[in-house]
Amino acid sequence: MTKKTPEQLRSHRWYGAKDLRAFGHRSRTAQMGFERGDYAGKPVIAVVNTWSDINPCHSHFRVRAEEVKRGIWQAGGFPVELPAMSLSEPFQKPTTMMYRNLLALETEELLRSHPIDGAVLMGGCDKTTPALIMGALSMGLPFIFMPAGPMLRGHFRGQTLGSGSDTWKYWDKLRTGEIDEPTWMEVEEGIARTPGHCMTMGTASTMTSAAEALGLTLPGAASIPAADSAHARMATQTGRRIVDMVWEDLTPARILSADAFDNAVTTVLALGGSTNSIIHLVAMARRAGIDLTAERFDALAQRTPVIADLRPAGRFLMEDFFCAGGLRALLARIAHLLVLDTPTVSGHTLGENIAGADVFNDEVIRPLDNPLVERDGIAVLRGSLAPDGAVIKPPAAQAHLLRHTGPALVFNDYNDMAVRVDDPDLPVTADTVLVLRNAGPQGGPGMPEWGQLPIPKKLLAQGVKDMVRISDARMSGTSYGACVLHVAPESWIGGPLALVRDGDLICLDVPARRLDLLVDEGELARRKAEWKAPEPRYARGYGALFEGHITQANEGCDFDFLEGTAPTEDPEIH
Ligand code: FES
Repeated sequence: MTKKTPEQLRSHRWYGAKDLRAFGHRSRTAQMGFERGDYAGKPVIAVVNTWSDINPCHSHFRVRAEEVKRGIWQAGGFPVELPAMSLSEPFQKPTTMMYRNLLALETEELLRSHPIDGAVLMGGCDKTTPALIMGALSMGLPFIFMPAGPMLRGHFRGQTLGSGSDTWKYWDKLRTGEIDEPTWMEVEEGIARTPGHCMTMGTASTMTSAAEALGLTLPGAASIPAADSAHARMATQTGRRIVDMVWEDLTPARILSADAFDNAVTTVLALGGSTNSIIHLVAMARRAGIDLTAERFDALAQRTPVIADLRPAGRFLMEDFFCAGGLRALLARIAHLLVLDTPTVSGHTLGENIAGADVFNDEVIRPLDNPLVERDGIAVLRGSLAPDGAVIKPPAAQAHLLRHTGPALVFNDYNDMAVRVDDPDLPVTADTVLVLRNAGPQGGPGMPEWGQLPIPKKLLAQGVKDMVRISDARMSGTSYGACVLHVAPESWIGGPLALVRDGDLICLDVPARRLDLLVDEGELARRKAEWKAPEPRYARGYGALFEGHITQANEGCDFDFLEGTAPTEDPEIH
């Protein structure tokens, strides 16, 4: 392998030239306390840090950034920390999904506009992983993704609590009077005990694991709990490795391929991962110029067993998964379903990265002959109600609902649902199909995680625990139920979901991969002619940019002008 020379470094154009501009760059670097020997001829590494005071999942990132920098110094690089938007899942409204593409854009432009040769991307809270990777893919410089790591288990009265899943569980108990306010407060204070992202197999754990399977993290990195000292060591190793990657010119274009994305999808399926990963991986693949569709998830799901017994589908949490051997052990167990010669940031193939990995607990990472779910962890539906597709996670639903026909009860938007769902006079039975519209990429806006529509209180009191629910929203990876999600095209732009009326029969047939509105075509054409497109919500600002350019769920919800592989030219340095 030919190594880059110092003169070939991108940063050389800022620091190495004999001109007035380079004098400015060097004198301003001196102003920060560095002398020429600190950076001259060395790879400049961006440490893109999504720390903020309002993102609990990344609260350890100030310290971790220093550990990454230590590795960069050790390997002969020059670290430059660049703060980026934090995308705090628990706090940002209407949803962090609205801002995923903004962080992607910020990441790309941070790398482009500064004298950067390579990057460590620090993320983990749900949307940060795809956002950072999408931006860095478009920029095309060598990078390593450094996952935040999951938080430790939650505790409450001797029981283990899992992020998200137990929130919904105890919220329903509070609504039905099974627990009181002080008990609810104990859950509140026990469910998130340490730094790190959600420790169920929600979107965060799904996406960091997918990043590892793609070959974009150091081996084993995604499973290490944030609070474990191994996480700090991994941070330093990441810093060391990125410097070598710059010399090797190991760009993402040399790592990613259709096979690498198949590995990521297979990994998500074997983990029982979040449906959100479909949208994110489709968007990431399109940035890399690779044609990945939701149907590929369905095809791979038909041969992939769910072997991670992790909540919400299973019993355990990420801390247990780490102790059971972590992702390397899981990948070793499904090695026959992976393409093992795909390159990774470690400089080794995926197969080499997982060689010798053992499972230490067969309850957490189950044997292939005793999986949690044999196949079909995710199913992609099409039909008259979802011409461009919809998604369901069959293992999260009660089995009898996977083939179900029932009358629709339509909520026009989230507020309509919030006001009416617990009305004792709501005309609803366990057979009703709840429909929520205007919750898609444009309608939400930002496709919020409203897809797990609450079971009406009146049915909860009758002991109903699940029912068919359909929306153009997403669902938190920590949620469960017979929820059909990502219906495309969405109702806001006139998709068939906009035409459903109370009492219409809807047929869900997961084995046949169908979702149909049983209303004749003439009647639907009449309704479509009467339908009026909503007025745009935003007259200015980011919202207007978002509304004008967001693509549909089946296309990854990227901005149309950000897709593609060709990097924009670097600015000329004069
Ligand atoms: Fe950050 Fe769940 S809130 S990952």
